Amino acid sequence: MQFNFASPEFKANPYPCYGKLRSEAPVQRVSLPDGQAAWLVTRYDDVVAVLKDERFVKDKLNAMTPEQLGKQAWVPVFFRPLTRNMLDLDGADHARLRALVNKAFTPRLVDAMRTRIESLTGELLDRVEHKGRMDLIADYALPIPTTIIAEMLGVPARDRHRFHRWSGAIVAANASSWGMLWAIPNVWFFIRFIRKLIHIRSKDPHDDLTSALVKAEEAGKHLNEDELLAMIFLLLIAGHETTVNLIGNGILALLQFPNQLAKLRDDPGLIKSAVEEFLRYGSPLETATERYAREDVSLAGVTIPRGGLVYAVIASANRDERQFPDPDMLDITRSPNRHLSFGLGEHYCLGAPLARLEAHIAINALLRRLPGLRLAVAPKSLRWRPGVVLRGLESLPVLLRKPCGVR
Ligand code: HEM
Repeated sequence: MQFNFASPEFKANPYPCYGKLRSEAPVQRVSLPDGQAAWLVTRYDDVVAVLKDERFVKDKLNAMTPEQLGKQAWVPVFFRPLTRNMLDLDGADHARLRALVNKAFTPRLVDAMRTRIESLTGELLDRVEHKGRMDLIADYALPIPTTIIAEMLGVPARDRHRFHRWSGAIVAANASSWGMLWAIPNVWFFIRFIRKLIHIRSKDPHDDLTSALVKAEEAGKHLNEDELLAMIFLLLIAGHETTVNLIGNGILALLQFPNQLAKLRDDPGLIKSAVEEFLRYGSPLETATERYAREDVSLAGVTIPRGGLVYAVIASANRDERQFPDPDMLDITRSPNRHLSFGLGEHYCLGAPLARLEAHIAINALLRRLPGLRLAVAPKSLRWRPGVVLRGLESLPVLLRKPCGVR
């Protein structure tokens, strides 16, 4: 089947295609932009099965034959430490790293960010309130998670805009061959920057997550420098490239469903269930990250061969009519709402409580301060970022005042 599911055009509205796949070909072999074959799994129950099944692993070394490994695309040597990040590892290797990060990334640490998120949203809104329009992504949805994760890790304020530029190039790497080439220098700068941060914090610990990770100890063992590098790299990228999409896609959905927008404005106490619905309806991650079949696995009548690359399509599962009544409608009071946006199983999102907290505060503050918020352009003209795993807007131009004559 030929469609470029990493392209901005496909990202604009992938849902009709996923609906067709769910009914006609729930496990579908596709070609990726780089020519690799992959299997898309699109039904809710099958996505759950893939995320929980130990025969689908994250580490290629646990899945592929030596011959298959030999055919993998060349990766520069300096990338190697990054492949030891916990999202790309299985079993005991993963469990050890997750136990170590759990010591540093605690509920207390997340809760302590509440006041800072409130002051930051206030500052960002002060900056735009007097203007007639803004780009909701660049001026609001992006700076919130970027600043928060950077402050948590102790990244100096002057460096923050740089790491988003580097990570943007990295998450778009698999969208095209050019994307892959462009990612190489960006990864190099990113690695150099994180190694410097680790050295500074090892010598001079502060009250931040990087210093806590340097100190973290499990069964008498610490993270070594490459593991620290991979962990901080993962936290910086996962900590902001996802939440920007939750806020951006969530606000876009509200602007397209004015009755739901009015409901939330009237009762801000609905924000918790509203954010769960934004997670379902707008799926900030279109697919879970890569998994590989450790052996031949039969799913929905299709055999995925050993070493096969599998994408569990969260955005499709979240709109599966077998699981959610009226799946294409936004309903901020939907209950139950067992969306899969934070994944499932051993790789369940570490940052879910932080992402929820940021979205609750950011969206309620925005609606309270900007009662005239509306789209500045037709939804069809919005541009989506390329890439396989994430789904988010390049920009979201909005008008801040009500049209003349409307009270
Ligand atoms: C709306 C925001 C977010 C969404 C939708 C999201 C989604 C996900 C998903 C689906 C996974 C599992 C991927 C898979 O199994 O292939 C995951 C894992 C992860 N997320 Fe998030 N995430 C969000 C925010 C965050 C934040 C704010 C952080 C960090 C501060 C974070 C850190 C991580 C980490 C470290 C993992 C890997 C966990 C592991 O391998 O054990 N995420 N996330």
